[in-house]
Amino acid sequence: MSTQEIVKEYYGQQLQSSDDLKTSACCDISQVPGWLKTLLAKIHPEVLSRYYGCGLVCPPLLEGCRVLDLGSGTGRDVYALAQLVGETGEVIGVDMTDEQLAIAENYREYHAEAFGYSNVTFVKGYLETLDELGFEDASFDVIVSNCVINLCTDKAAVLNSIGRLLKPGGEFYFSDVYADRRVPESVKNDPVLYGECLGGALYWNDFLNLSKQNGFADPRLVEDRPLDVTDPKLAAKVGNIRFYSATYRLFKLDELEPDCEEYGQAVIYKGTVPEHPNNFLLDGHHDIETGKVFPVCGNTWRMLHDSRFSEHFEYIGDFSNHFGLFDGCGKTLPFREGEAAPLDEPSSCC
Ligand SMILES: C[S@@+](CC[C@H](N)C(=O)[O-])C[C@H]1O[C@@H](n2cnc3c(N)ncnc32)[C@H](O)[C@@H]1O
Repeated sequence: MSTQEIVKEYYGQQLQSSDDLKTSACCDISQVPGWLKTLLAKIHPEVLSRYYGCGLVCPPLLEGCRVLDLGSGTGRDVYALAQLVGETGEVIGVDMTDEQLAIAENYREYHAEAFGYSNVTFVKGYLETLDELGFEDASFDVIVSNCVINLCTDKAAVLNSIGRLLKPGGEFYFSDVYADRRVPESVKNDPVLYGECLGGALYWNDFLNLSKQNGFADPRLVEDRPLDVTDPKLAAKVGNIRFYSATYRLFKLDELEPDCEEYGQAVIYKGTVPEHPNNFLLDGHHDIETGKVFPVCGNTWRMLHDSRFSEHFEYIGDFSNHFGLFDGCGKTLPFREGEAAPLDEPSSCC
């Protein structure tokens, strides 16, 4: 069986609900924010019960956007995003597994009635050959994915297609699983570990380099948490490898530089992004308070100025003077250390 067949079988036949997962890797144990609870309340229980994501993939300011969800499963995120993009936006989910797509499709009408409009499509396809699905170049504002890239056999091809499909200034906003080292063949070749999103997980620094090689010069880490492999047999197989769930955002901006460079620039957040009156969280290092002069590197300046966030900031400075590397442009393990949250936490598997 090919790796894709193993994954299809795992998600199409072996798993029946989030409860069947054997580790916490594909299971979102972070606290669900109130605004998301409101959106989830409108989603059909069968779709929710087959959620296998590992994070939140709903960035702010989506109204009117065209969004693509890679590995959309039974559609939980698609149906949440459909509410955020609204009637003037559109969300397309792509998945390779018939059983997952059938459930997603089955509830399309149900959600159209619940939302009062129909703005969702599901497409069968492989992410490694996204180019065959007929999407136009530069036709998506945002591409999301939740616990899927680790399952892909050709991650470079997927990133490359994402770069082609995003509009300039668009972003790939996605949650996935990463390892603190390269995963050995014994782990990679174990079908359960692979299906559980561990075997195919990238070593975090390989991911950063792969992103840079495929046109995303400055990946930004939004949030992360350590994962616990609680099944004793699986834990023995992975040994000392530590796994993390992390949400990154990769902006498609050709002018981004390999490092954060200092040009003496700053921004002021106007507090105008809906639901975010007090601060704007670009990433884990940039929680920008409303009204405050916030010094930024050239790349951050461009991520705000040349994206859909542009009009929500005031901009100070330009690129005419260079002052060297921006302070704190670090290169160490980006994830927070600490214990993985216990599996029996009440918020487990929202
Ligand atoms: C861990 S589940 C996540 C599903 C969904 N994102 C969610 O949060 O519930 C992985 C999904 O990705 C799909 N998938 C995995 N590899 C794929 C590939 N190479 N091409 C297309 N879909 C893929 C699987 O069929 C499965 O539905």
